[in-house]
Amino acid sequence: MAHFKPRVFSGVQPTGNLHLGNYLGAITKFVALQETHECIYCVVDLHAITVPQNPKELRASIREVTAAFLAAGIDAKKHIVFNQSQVAEHAELAWVLNCVARLGWLNRMTQFKEKAGKDRENVSVGLYDYPVLMAADILVYRATHVPVGEDQKQHLELARDIAQKFNLDYGEEIDALGHGEAFFPLPEPLIQGPATRVMSLRDGTKKMSKSDTSDNSRINLSDDAEAIAQKIRKAKTDPEPLPSEIEGLAQRPEADNLVGIFAALDNRTKADVLRTFGGGNFSTFKSALIDLTVARLAPIGAAMTELKRDQAYIDGVLAEGAARARAIAQETMKSVKDIVGFVR
Ligand code: TRP
Repeated sequence: MAHFKPRVFSGVQPTGNLHLGNYLGAITKFVALQETHECIYCVVDLHAITVPQNPKELRASIREVTAAFLAAGIDAKKHIVFNQSQVAEHAELAWVLNCVARLGWLNRMTQFKEKAGKDRENVSVGLYDYPVLMAADILVYRATHVPVGEDQKQHLELARDIAQKFNLDYGEEIDALGHGEAFFPLPEPLIQGPATRVMSLRDGTKKMSKSDTSDNSRINLSDDAEAIAQKIRKAKTDPEPLPSEIEGLAQRPEADNLVGIFAALDNRTKADVLRTFGGGNFSTFKSALIDLTVARLAPIGAAMTELKRDQAYIDGVLAEGAARARAIAQETMKSVKDIVGFVR
């Protein structure tokens, strides 16, 4: 696999508001990777429609995620930011990969089983095929590294299996056309650490989620200082003071979550945070957490509001990103067509 140049690809679904969990779990990682890698960041609108979407809200969400990327410090000039549906090669490669992936592999996908629930017969075919499209997203750029959450690990493994089977099935042609022994790299996941798994402010055992009915359960990137302060003040805690040692956070999911958020926002360990706040009460700690969260998020929220006022600018960024992404994707598709035996 030595001949593949390192390239990062990741996608975020444009469904609803982005929150602190998305920020700490994904976006800050995307920002950091820009220093070391060539990066392609995609708003995956084709994935969004695997479940019903309101078209007006979908359009707004695509721009919202784009604004969040830019506001958080993703450089759309040095790297690539675009929305998936503007680059037709994603869907085109997905079809070819549909014919490589095996039914038995998809039947093992746990996220499909969770999302389909009891309504198996009634979900879209797209929802079932979601992981193959995700493989196409990555492989159409021959990306080598993919920052994702723990919940996407199985999809990444599937992408590797698909890449490997393509390389094997078409090995002779790949070699004959001068691509060496492998056409697709086997993409590596860059999994977020457990410290950045942000939980609900109302229930420390549930993930912070945009689908939670209580807006107090999450801090949205678009929340202003007032809203952030109120939500943290209302956040569930327990009656004990904060522990001085990290072991003391076991069985205390809400305390663990708030300390974890503090640590992630301040780039330090939970143990280090407890060295400062251990033994103290929650109200002192919460005041410091409010200051820190507002200092980190309010400028991003303000920049997002500013950006969203200029829709033409956002759409321009996406169009330019799509043009650059397309140029790479088209090169891959030319080779794929030659490899599988299409005439072009
Ligand atoms: N499935 C991913 C998620 O929900 C989003 C996604 C789509 C993605 N295509 C991708 C992530 C390609 C990484 C690479 O988080």
